[in-house]
Amino acid sequence: MATALKWNRDSWRAKPIQQAPDYPDKAALEAAEKTLRNYPPLVFAGEARRLKAALARVGEGSAFLLQGGDCAESFAEFHPDNIRDTFRVLLQMAVVMTFGAAMPIVKVGRLAGQFAKPRSSPTEVINGVELPSYRGDNVNGMDFTVEARRPDPQRMVQAYNQSAATLNLLRAFAQGGYADLHKVHQWTLGFVKDEVQIEKYRRFADRIQETLAFMEACGLTGETVPQIRETEFYTSHEALLLPYEEALTRIDSTTGQWYACSAHMVWIGERTRQLDGAHVEYFKGINNPVGIKIGPTVKPDELLALCDALNPSNDAGRLTLITRMGAEKLAESLPTLVRAAKREGKNVVWVCDPMHANTMKSNTGYKTRQFDRILAEVKSFFGVHRAEGSHGGGVHFELTGKDVTECTGGAQAITEARLGDRYHTHCDPRLNASQALELAFLIAEMLKDERSRVLQARKDQIAAAQ
Ligand code: PEP
Ligand code: CO
Repeated sequence: MATALKWNRDSWRAKPIQQAPDYPDKAALEAAEKTLRNYPPLVFAGEARRLKAALARVGEGSAFLLQGGDCAESFAEFHPDNIRDTFRVLLQMAVVMTFGAAMPIVKVGRLAGQFAKPRSSPTEVINGVELPSYRGDNVNGMDFTVEARRPDPQRMVQAYNQSAATLNLLRAFAQGGYADLHKVHQWTLGFVKDEVQIEKYRRFADRIQETLAFMEACGLTGETVPQIRETEFYTSHEALLLPYEEALTRIDSTTGQWYACSAHMVWIGERTRQLDGAHVEYFKGINNPVGIKIGPTVKPDELLALCDALNPSNDAGRLTLITRMGAEKLAESLPTLVRAAKREGKNVVWVCDPMHANTMKSNTGYKTRQFDRILAEVKSFFGVHRAEGSHGGGVHFELTGKDVTECTGGAQAITEARLGDRYHTHCDPRLNASQALELAFLIAEMLKDERSRVLQARKDQIAAAQ
C-alpha cells in the first residue's frame, strides 16, 4: 500500500472524529492506553489472514458468511453460560445453513470486543435532566447518573480482560470438542421451549447423524477429518473506540505489517465512515479483513471511493460491505451500488444486516424489531443480488442464545405486550435463540433455491451448447 509507509497506528488522531467520548481525565486515559499497549494481542495476524482467505471464498461464491452476536456486550451479562448460548445458537444456525447452501459457512461472532456503541445524540434527557449518552460498557455505564455516564478509561482495560476471557472460552468451545458434529443433538440441551423449532432441529440433527454414520463407514471420522470434530470461529466488532484499537494494533513479526489485534475482523459503522475521517484513516493501515456498514443514502461514487481508500490493491476477502437499508430502500438503493462495484471490478463481499434499518418503537415504549421485516430485508437482499448476477455472500444478525423477548413475531409470535417479559439488551433488540434458528432455516431454504437455480442454469447452458 502506497500510504502504508506514512501510516501509523495513531495517524487517525490528526483527522476529524465522530462519536468519540470526551474523557475528562486525560492522564487516566493515557495510563489506560499504556496498560493496553503492554498487554498481549487478543488474536494473531495469521488468524486474521485465514479469515481473509475464507472471506475471499465467500466473495467468489463458494462459501457463505454468518456473522452475529450481541448488539453490545456488557460487563453485567458476562457469564460463561451467555457465551456458550450465543456460540451454540450460531453453531446451530451454521449447521442448518451448511445443509441448505451445501457450502462452508464462515462463522464470525459479534463477540469478545463488541462493547462501544455509536449514538444518535451525544446526550440524553430524562425528566428535564441532561446527561451524556451511554456509549457502551467500555466507555461509560448505563445507569442514568452523573458518575455512571462519565467516560472512564479504566473500562477499556476491563473490556480487554472480558474479551480475553471470552475469546479463551470460544477457542475452547470451537476446538476442544464442544463443536464436534457428533454432538449436534446435544446443542439443543437447555434450548428455549419452542416446540416447533426444537422438532424441526431434531429432525435435522437426525439427518446429520445419519450422514456421519455413513461417512464413518467410509472411513471418514473425526480422527481423519478434523472439520468433523472442531470448527473455526472468528471474532469481530465495530472498531469505534480508537484509543482502544490503537493500543491493540501491532506489527506482525512474520510480514512486518500492521494488524488490529483486538479481533479477527473489525468494521466501520454507518455513522463513522466519512472518507477523510479518523475511522477510515485507522482502517487504511490495518491489514485485517474489514467491513463497512452501508446505509440507504450511500451513493455509488462514495462507495467506490471507500473501496479505493480501504482496499487500494483490490485484494479478495479484504473488504466486506454490510448493507443495512430496510427491505424497500434496499430494493431502490442496492442495485446501483452492486452495478457500480461490478463495473469497476471491485472485489467485495456483500453481506446483509437486516437489523439496523428495522428498529422501531413499540406502542409499549420498547425499541424493537419485527421478525417479518427482518426476513423481508434478507429476501430483498438475495433478490437484488440474483437480479444483478451478483452474489449475496452472508448475513449479519444481532442475536443472543437466550430466550429474551426483544423482537416481535416469529413462530413464537412474540407480541408488543410481551416485550417487557425478558427485555435485557444493553442497546438494540436482539433475536432470541428460537427466532435466530427460525431465520436460519428460512435462509437455508433460500440458499437451496439459489443453488438449484444456479445448477439449472448450468444444465441449460450445457444443453444449449450441445
Ligand atoms: C451496530 O452494528 O450495532 C450498529 C450500530 O450498526 P450501524 O453502524 O449499521 O448503525
Ligand atoms: Co446494534
